[in-house]
Amino acid sequence: MAASSTVRARRDFDALSAVYDETRRPLDEETVEKLIAFVNQHRWNSVLEVGVGTGRIAGPLVARGVRVVGIDASRGMLTYAVRKGLPHLVRGAAHHLPFPDRTFDVSLFVHVLHILDDVTGALREAARVARHGVLAIMDPAPDVASADGLREETPRDVVRKVLVDAGYPDLLRSGPRPKEREILRAHPPTETLLLSDRVVTEPAANVLDTIAKRAYRHVLDVPPEVLDRAVRVARDRVGDRMVTYHRRETLVWWADPGTDGEPPFVGHAGR
Ligand SMILES: C[S@@+](CC[C@H](N)C(=O)[O-])C[C@H]1O[C@@H](n2cnc3c(N)ncnc32)[C@H](O)[C@@H]1O
Repeated sequence: MAASSTVRARRDFDALSAVYDETRRPLDEETVEKLIAFVNQHRWNSVLEVGVGTGRIAGPLVARGVRVVGIDASRGMLTYAVRKGLPHLVRGAAHHLPFPDRTFDVSLFVHVLHILDDVTGALREAARVARHGVLAIMDPAPDVASADGLREETPRDVVRKVLVDAGYPDLLRSGPRPKEREILRAHPPTETLLLSDRVVTEPAANVLDTIAKRAYRHVLDVPPEVLDRAVRVARDRVGDRMVTYHRRETLVWWADPGTDGEPPFVGHAGR
């Protein structure tokens, strides 16, 4: 199961690597500052970033003097990390990290855990190669409803509905949050820290451009003409609106898992 999710991740992220950076925002300055402060506060010197991707996070950390080794399954994503000059990059799978036990101070996942089938196995493996446990940056908070309790139709909702009406499975049903909440329930962390929480307002057209660029792995298998039609319908319906959403980054730390005699990450948070 873990192996097949790695193969799928490799295929999907190879396909969308060319548009990844232009369709994802860099981490907020506040997020980077607080993450570095957390690492420094514990006097950690080495970080393994699992699912380093294009180096969106490793880049700012390395620039600030943190020693980061990045591993990723996708050659395409790593190509962009190499171009940014990141010095320590390895191609490999989250479930079989090619490092001896306790090589790094800490392992780090940023927006990766929700993608994995065998989350427990990946956490256990990340804990094996680290001396002080595992960090993750995620956004598990519930979506915020408007004052009347109703959620406005988003551009993503419109594309989703057109695709479902065209006979596709409900590919855009939910983002990562439900899965991230499930992971935290299965593996209660030692500590969580809100890194940043801001309200972002942007044209709906930006969201639709991102979907049209096929920058989401869920739509990669939809034929281009079908996706283009869905995006056209959404542009007609909501393309001139602004959309507002919360952007939160929460740091999660599972400290020294296993030191209390329990084997680390015995729970199950698979798919
Ligand atoms: C959503 S991207 C996040 C990249 C980066 N952490 C960021 O926040 O920009 C997920 C990354 O995890 C990698 N990935 C997914 N499953 C993986 C696995 N089983 N082993 C190694 N890398 C994996 C993908 O190739 C991709 O680069």
